[in-house]
Amino acid sequence: MTSRLAGKVAVVTGAGSSGPGVGTGKAISVVLAREGASVLLVDKVPERAEETLALVKQAGGEGRVFEADISRSGDCEAMVDAAVADYGGVDILVNNAAVTRHVSVLETSEELYEAILGVNLRGAFMACKFAIPALVARGGGSIVNIGSIASIRDSGSTHPAYAASKAALLGLTVDLAGAYGPANVRVNAVLPGIIATPMAEQVGASRGGAPGAPTVPNLLRRQGTAWDVANAVLFLCSDEASYLTGVTLPVDGGAVVAMASAPLLRPG
Ligand SMILES: NC(=O)c1ccc[n+]([C@@H]2O[C@H](COP(=O)([O-])OP(=O)(O)OC[C@H]3O[C@@H](n4cnc5c(N)ncnc54)[C@H](O)[C@@H]3O)[C@@H](O)[C@H]2O)c1
Repeated sequence: MTSRLAGKVAVVTGAGSSGPGVGTGKAISVVLAREGASVLLVDKVPERAEETLALVKQAGGEGRVFEADISRSGDCEAMVDAAVADYGGVDILVNNAAVTRHVSVLETSEELYEAILGVNLRGAFMACKFAIPALVARGGGSIVNIGSIASIRDSGSTHPAYAASKAALLGLTVDLAGAYGPANVRVNAVLPGIIATPMAEQVGASRGGAPGAPTVPNLLRRQGTAWDVANAVLFLCSDEASYLTGVTLPVDGGAVVAMASAPLLRPG
């Protein structure tokens, strides 16, 4: 364990993984804890966050599981209250929890739209609303919103409610960066490319790709890992990034730059 985040308290939403393997919330939690942060591991499914807690403990870190459905604003408030009660404050908020469904706009019911936006956008919004006073009370802090390159480019997948929610997250990032910069609260966004999580493997398999092969062309010719995303989040939360706010950082192996032919990957 090193100490880039010694004495800091982090809240990570979606700290588990929805399938076997390492999703980004899991990797982010482990990396922040490894650097000395105490991490509140928030997940709607606590068993998933318990798996992350075991990895945090293995790494010699400190963490606690907190069950919350971030689509409920009361849960967002309770999550921040728990971090303050357990650890004395909040320095870092990572809005990572998200849901998606690969269906077209015509197949997206109003209920499904509300469900996706309710987690990905309203959840992150409410988490910020309740966490910001705690960050300000500590003299500043860092919020990292996990977006997606799907919010700025056609990745060849069809998930309009998800893409819209992730695009709106960028507007939220910029607005909060402006409003709370004077209070030394930095607000940035990380845009993962195609990351080798169980969910992404399913997308690749549906396109006939070999396991582990990049489902979207990128300049580095490999799929990203959750650890690639976690290391970018760590940087943005650390003092090394103390002059960065309102930034949108793709972690995508250069996929955004290389993506001109992506629509051709769409079946049919
Ligand atoms: N995997 C990729 O290729 C990829 C690409 C771009 C962006 N991302 C983003 O990275 C983040 C994590 O993706 P992942 O693939 O690791 O996901 P994942 O599905 O493996 O993990 C998400 C976790 O969030 C939890 N969760 C879902 N809804 C919740 C809610 N309402 N309240 C609290 N917790 C909730 C789930 O239980 C799960 O443990 C998301 O923001 C996703 O949009 C992923």
